[in-house]
Amino acid sequence: MSGAFTGKLAVVTGGASGIGAACVLQLRDQGASVFIGDVQAEPDTPEYLDVTNRDSVDAFFSALDRAPDVLITCAGGASRSPALDVDEAAMETTLSLNFGGFWRCAQEASRRAVAENKPLAIVHVGSSLHRGPAPDLSHFAAAKAASMTMVRCLAQELAAHDIRVNAVVPGPVETPATKSLWDASPDIREALDRATPLGRIGQPDDVVPAILFLASPEAAWSTGTVLTIDGGMDVAS
Ligand SMILES: NC(=O)c1ccc[n+]([C@@H]2O[C@H](COP(=O)([O-])OP(=O)(O)OC[C@H]3O[C@@H](n4cnc5c(N)ncnc54)[C@H](O)[C@@H]3O)[C@@H](O)[C@H]2O)c1
Repeated sequence: MSGAFTGKLAVVTGGASGIGAACVLQLRDQGASVFIGDVQAEPDTPEYLDVTNRDSVDAFFSALDRAPDVLITCAGGASRSPALDVDEAAMETTLSLNFGGFWRCAQEASRRAVAENKPLAIVHVGSSLHRGPAPDLSHFAAAKAASMTMVRCLAQELAAHDIRVNAVVPGPVETPATKSLWDASPDIREALDRATPLGRIGQPDDVVPAILFLASPEAAWSTGTVLTIDGGMDVAS
């Protein structure tokens, strides 16, 4: 298979489901060798990755035969809770997954790329909620905001090593994470469709091209960039 990623080694965290799984399919289609890192894999297999655990992140990247050329960080999510009910445990878990998970994987992949003196393209999948407000998801929004700041910090500090760090910020996308909620409350889904200037919520394949662009050699002069892909929700009146 030939394509923009022929001969490239790509890692997709959270690649077993949703947006990450759609990235995996497209990357393979465009010639990449793709390693999925996900908690849905069997423990004790090379594909098992818990991004909230430093030892797991270390073991996952150590099992690769070389530093990846591309890292896409999709692992994320949160349970819903009104701001007044978010407790210490929920806040810690959410930060460790959505901010810490990105930071640990970006750091480990970058350390290996620097040691091997090879370029690396990192694309983090954030969320349009990072700007707030985010009813019942304040903990998640704040964690995603921290990850956006880390994207910009790493982009600046790692550019000298030819490591690019960019982000894609999706609006609401239909994935296993959201579908069950929307299936249970069709009125929420309809309200989101109506609130989106382009008339509908997104599908994973609406977001993947932006992620792959930032991961590809075509984005060789882009770092610290945040691409919002949200059907126009950010400019809704
Ligand atoms: N779906 C949306 O509306 C939407 C909108 C904006 C941003 N996002 C973000 O996009 C990313 C992907 O979301 P999705 O909707 O495809 O969700 P999803 O639940 O379909 O996929 C998330 C994947 O992450 C994995 N994962 C969870 N915890 C993990 C951990 N500790 N270590 C490794 N893997 C772990 C899950 O097993 C799953 O495969 C998330 O970061 C999410 O916050 C989603």
